[in-house]
Amino acid sequence: MHTTYARINNASAFLSSCAMALLAMIAVSSLLFTADPKGTLAIDNVQIYPGKGRRYVNKNHDFAFVHFNVTADLTPLFNWNTKQLFLYLQAEYEDAKGTKNEVVIWDRIVRTKDAANLAVQGRNKYAFRNVASTFKNVGPANYSLRYSVMPYVGLLTYGEAARTADVIPFPSKREGVA
Ligand SMILES: *[C@@H]1O[C@H](CO)[C@@H](O)[C@H](O)[C@H]1NC(C)=O
Ligand SMILES: *[C@@H]1O[C@H](CO)[C@@H](O)[C@H](O)[C@H]1NC(C)=O
Repeated sequence: MHTTYARINNASAFLSSCAMALLAMIAVSSLLFTADPKGTLAIDNVQIYPGKGRRYVNKNHDFAFVHFNVTADLTPLFNWNTKQLFLYLQAEYEDAKGTKNEVVIWDRIVRTKDAANLAVQGRNKYAFRNVASTFKNVGPANYSLRYSVMPYVGLLTYGEAARTADVIPFPSKREGVA
């Protein structure tokens, strides 16, 4: 009786330390795996529209609409320890006060390797407003495609897969009511 219990106990301690070692090996081995895929990102056009004066929307608040074209083959980021990728497009600009702003304007979760070969022409998914209500005297923006890799085991890793070559100014002209 006693020996059976001790044996089971030893066996399960052994198995759980094996499992821990295996998990640690997976986490470490996927860190050694350094894919650094690069794609292209172009901003086709940026327009500024005044808020429509809907309820809860300040009429004088300007919204930027950014049309982009992004292509990137992110399949190398899928390895044995990749659960999913979180992709996002970020705008970086300095406002009229010289404060640096980083705004996520679009994102996507990629769960399969097939979907990781990205080719998207689209427009910002999230409202893009400047804190100071207009984009007047705001510096030009850089845009980048970034990702974080969510592993089955271990820590998130981050990277940048594309960036605009030149800074893109915000237009000074407000378009008519959208
Ligand atoms: C989008 O970018 C890709 C890669 O630079 C290019 O081949 C493609 O023609 C572009 N599409 C449009 C509609 O501009
Ligand atoms: C945009 O990129 C250029 C070149 O890398 C850099 O000099 C500039 O500071 C960047 N601007 C912002 C607002 O991040």
